[in-house]
Amino acid sequence: MKQKKDIYILAIESSCDDTSAAVMKNEVVLSNVVANQEIHQKYGGVVPELASRAHQQNIVPVVQQALEQANIDKKDLDAIAFTRGPGLMGSLLVGTSFATSMAAALAIPLIDVNHMQAHILAHFIRNSKIQNTNSKKQSSNPTFPFICLTISGGHTQIVKVSSYFDFEVLGETLDDAVGEAFDKSAKILGLAYPGGPFIDKYAQDGNPNAYPFPKPKTKNKLDFSFSGFKTAVLRFVQKNVKENPDFIQDNLPDICASIQNGIVSILMDKLKETVKQTGINQIAIAGGVSANSEIRKRLTENKHGWKTFIPPFEYTTDNAAMIGIVGYLKYKNGFVNDEQKLATARLKVGEN
Ligand code: KG4
Ligand code: ZN
Repeated sequence: MKQKKDIYILAIESSCDDTSAAVMKNEVVLSNVVANQEIHQKYGGVVPELASRAHQQNIVPVVQQALEQANIDKKDLDAIAFTRGPGLMGSLLVGTSFATSMAAALAIPLIDVNHMQAHILAHFIRNSKIQNTNSKKQSSNPTFPFICLTISGGHTQIVKVSSYFDFEVLGETLDDAVGEAFDKSAKILGLAYPGGPFIDKYAQDGNPNAYPFPKPKTKNKLDFSFSGFKTAVLRFVQKNVKENPDFIQDNLPDICASIQNGIVSILMDKLKETVKQTGINQIAIAGGVSANSEIRKRLTENKHGWKTFIPPFEYTTDNAAMIGIVGYLKYKNGFVNDEQKLATARLKVGEN
């Protein structure tokens, strides 16, 4: 019997402030190298020009390391996948140009990948540690259709996923992304950027019900709005600091636990409403904020009878393995980039 040939794909991600390269053997990750850019910390947010300069410095060594760790010669690659968008234009251009030149030099196909689809399809990386919280006997992949709550520093969306290539946005944020709600709240408290992980850390020792924060209302019940939440945190802190200049230092764990509880409760309410409206009870989460311990805990407790899917940490924040799995699925289905699609800062989750 003829052996099915394994497909080796090099994937490159450079949409924001992480330079990453991965090598996939079919759905399996052989290497996934991520270079974080610490330079942005002192500015309290990502500085686009500095991000693209750092990508230029990082891209060659990161790709080299990914090939070495995977023990793959570049001549053995079948295709190169790259993040086309959405993201910062200058950052995307570094990855796109590198991928385009390398694919041309090796005379292999180029595969454009939508970053938002990649966050979601990270759930299909095989042999990974993706947890199914219901039963060890169940397959660890969600089956179609499922709902994915994509929560990152730039996006907040509820997406109905009907196949690897069929995505419908049911709700999204009207203003700030949920990661921004964490990061901006953290900034108000004087914590470093990105502040989401710090809020999570201090919240471990705090009382989540110490200070109630409002739940913003939206016309479409599946949409989100976080700008009001951030303003409420600002007003609350300003008012209390006026009365006690040491209010933040004295109460940091309680403040962080309350902010985290406020944000995660909004997310859980939206998921309940989505299940009610769609009747779909397979719930996955994706994106950087899915690293948050409280959302992971509430989905793991699984009080609602949902089947929940939580990615392992390394596939939650930006990484090239998630680009690689989409690259593989597109390659297998004949969707290579023969139209020469290049970088684009705006790209909806359903678009290619
Ligand atoms: O997906 P991601 O790495 O980059 C974007 O595409 O935006 O997400 C980054 C976001 C940041 O806002 C960061 O604060 C947040 O994810 N984040 C967290 C946690 N870890 C990362 N937010 C809350 N709790 C965490 N543990
Ligand atoms: Zn992302």
